[in-house]
Amino acid sequence: MADDTDLLHAAHRARLMAHAPYSNFLVGAAVLADDGQVYLGCNVENVAYPEGVCAEAVALGAMVVGGGRRVVAIAVAGGPAGPPRPCQPCGGCRQKIAEFATAETVVLTGGEDGAIDRRLAHDLLPARFELDPPGA
Ligand code: THU
Repeated sequence: MADDTDLLHAAHRARLMAHAPYSNFLVGAAVLADDGQVYLGCNVENVAYPEGVCAEAVALGAMVVGGGRRVVAIAVAGGPAGPPRPCQPCGGCRQKIAEFATAETVVLTGGEDGAIDRRLAHDLLPARFELDPPGA
């Protein structure tokens, strides 16, 4: 099973594959799924700018098609060309992560200095959109 450092390094490697010619902001994501597999994603931009997709969305899609159903942990790193920097998931990606999260799902970020910011997905999006919210 990948530990936090392994997963963050996988995100750093995935980031090198980013297609980000418009923002020049490269993002990598690595999902450790409930099947024990690590699924990778990078941002993939498009000349029609809103059609670009975030690294987390790509990694979550890879998880789903690969058979994973829950996110144990997801690591994200971003930044302009050069060393990876810490990068928190955007609001939309927090909702996407929440779709596959449990109460224990962890979100990691960090650069090359070894420091890891480790939070629960629930703390990043405590009140996610739901069709049948609790208390409705
Ligand atoms: N981006 C991600 O890949 N993940 C996020 O959580 C936020 C932003 C991408 C989108 C775009 O390609 C670039 O970073 C700059 O916004």
